[in-house]
Amino acid sequence: MKDCLEARVALVLVLVALCVQDSDSSMFWFVNVFFPPVGPEDAKLNQSEGAPIVIVPGNIGNQLEGKLNKPSLVHWLCMKKTHDYVTLWLNLNTFMPIGIDCWIDNVRLVYNQTTRKSTNAPGVETRVPGFGKTFSVEHLDNIQLTGYLHTLVQSLVNLGYVRDETVRAAPYDWRFASIEQEEYFHKLKNLIEEMYTSYRKPVYLLGHSLGCLHLLHFLNNQPQAWKDKFIHGFISLGGLWGGAIKSLRVLASGDNYGVSLLPPMKVRIQQRTTTTNPWILPTKQAWPPEHIFISTPTYNYTYDDYRKFFSDIEYEDGWFKWQDSKELLSNLPAPGVEVYCVYGIGVPTPVTYIYDEHFPNAQPVGFLYEDGDNTVSTRSLSLCKGWKEQQKQKVHVIEYPGLQHLDIVYSNQTLTLIEDIVLGSYSESYSERQHEPSN
Ligand SMILES: *[C@@H]1O[C@H](CO)[C@@H](O)[C@H](O)[C@H]1NC(C)=O
Ligand SMILES: *[C@@H]1O[C@H](CO)[C@@H](O)[C@H](O)[C@H]1NC(C)=O
Ligand SMILES: *[C@@H]1O[C@H](CO)[C@@H](O)[C@H](O)[C@H]1NC(C)=O
Ligand SMILES: *[C@@H]1O[C@H](CO)[C@@H](O)[C@H](O)[C@H]1NC(C)=O
Repeated sequence: MKDCLEARVALVLVLVALCVQDSDSSMFWFVNVFFPPVGPEDAKLNQSEGAPIVIVPGNIGNQLEGKLNKPSLVHWLCMKKTHDYVTLWLNLNTFMPIGIDCWIDNVRLVYNQTTRKSTNAPGVETRVPGFGKTFSVEHLDNIQLTGYLHTLVQSLVNLGYVRDETVRAAPYDWRFASIEQEEYFHKLKNLIEEMYTSYRKPVYLLGHSLGCLHLLHFLNNQPQAWKDKFIHGFISLGGLWGGAIKSLRVLASGDNYGVSLLPPMKVRIQQRTTTTNPWILPTKQAWPPEHIFISTPTYNYTYDDYRKFFSDIEYEDGWFKWQDSKELLSNLPAPGVEVYCVYGIGVPTPVTYIYDEHFPNAQPVGFLYEDGDNTVSTRSLSLCKGWKEQQKQKVHVIEYPGLQHLDIVYSNQTLTLIEDIVLGSYSESYSERQHEPSN
């Protein structure tokens, strides 16, 4: 029992650190993970009511599996061959001293500058378990220690939704930017059409963090008539519409996910192989051109210095990856469906990372802060307001003071809001509340 609890604590710390790297999470987050909600209790909906929901999780927010048959190993203790798929994410071994080397070598992507495509490392096949089901986003590990969207899904189930039927998830390979998700978007479209047919109602799309960007890309690539028919609305929780400054830090000096056992320089190897991190660099819409994202003793890097930034950190591929994927965020086209844009504000969030002369091979020595949700700046989160003038479908903006980036998926405020939206009892007073002082 004690061991189990310790393992759980370790995993929870990992998870907190993963998603909320720059500061501590609030206590109720822990309470939710240790004492997950139960139910169903008094369902307010019955199965013939309520629009079906598809959930798209945030970065590293669903399980990933791999099958190995590797030509060579980085360490003799690493697994060379597996008979079947094994869990690559989230697996506690990842956070052990040698395990981390094996893990990096298994999940790293290889980028080809000619084809501008990324592929798995030689001898690794990967797959995302549970498409169309919810287990892979409810808990990140397969023994259910780390609850991610479990609280949210359970609150929908308590309302009368049915797991894997009227509420489903669309997990994805979060190492890839949306331009490399063609097959995923194809499956997502089929899933939505299938649910529409089964339940005879248009579908709600619900995204968290990075998942909101994938949903925006998806919606932008569907004909308006398709959206009018199949989509009820888009609920976005913590969408980073103007990118995240944190991605520059992750690419420069790595991030050990807050786990002190892990050397950030090592994890940086893996973090630089994704196309996700370069995709979400902060944009011009969110930041004035003179804003300094990264400050070093020899140079101050702004939006116009990305080429130099990638060259100085010796990661030229990053420049190409950004060139290929930046269009979605730099244009930020309106989704063309009714939007509920929900995010936290009022929490100090790093907007400038200050390095000493060891840049980029050491962690920042200082930070400057601005308003945000502790991970993403309000400047980025609030860009959805611009859609009000760009589409005829309604755009509701709901700001929650003090609500952090990860906490948003556990918060009673958010869950109650989602309840009201799907029950049809949403009122505009939600978006007016943001103007009230929080006392
Ligand atoms: C569900 O709702 C429908 C339509 O409002 C109603 O006819 C039916 O009796 C309800 N079923 C239950 C189990 O409450
Ligand atoms: C990149 O792709 C091209 C075209 O398929 C291929 O000829 C080349 O060998 C690849 N480069 C590497 C380093 O694999
Ligand atoms: C970077 O910007 C800061 C603040 O504006 C300034 O004090 C510093 O001298 C600048 N450093 C360089 C290398 O330009
Ligand atoms: C939010 O909290 C209130 C009071 O504790 C509770 O009655 C309600 O069921 C909660 N709502 C959700 C959606 O969890």
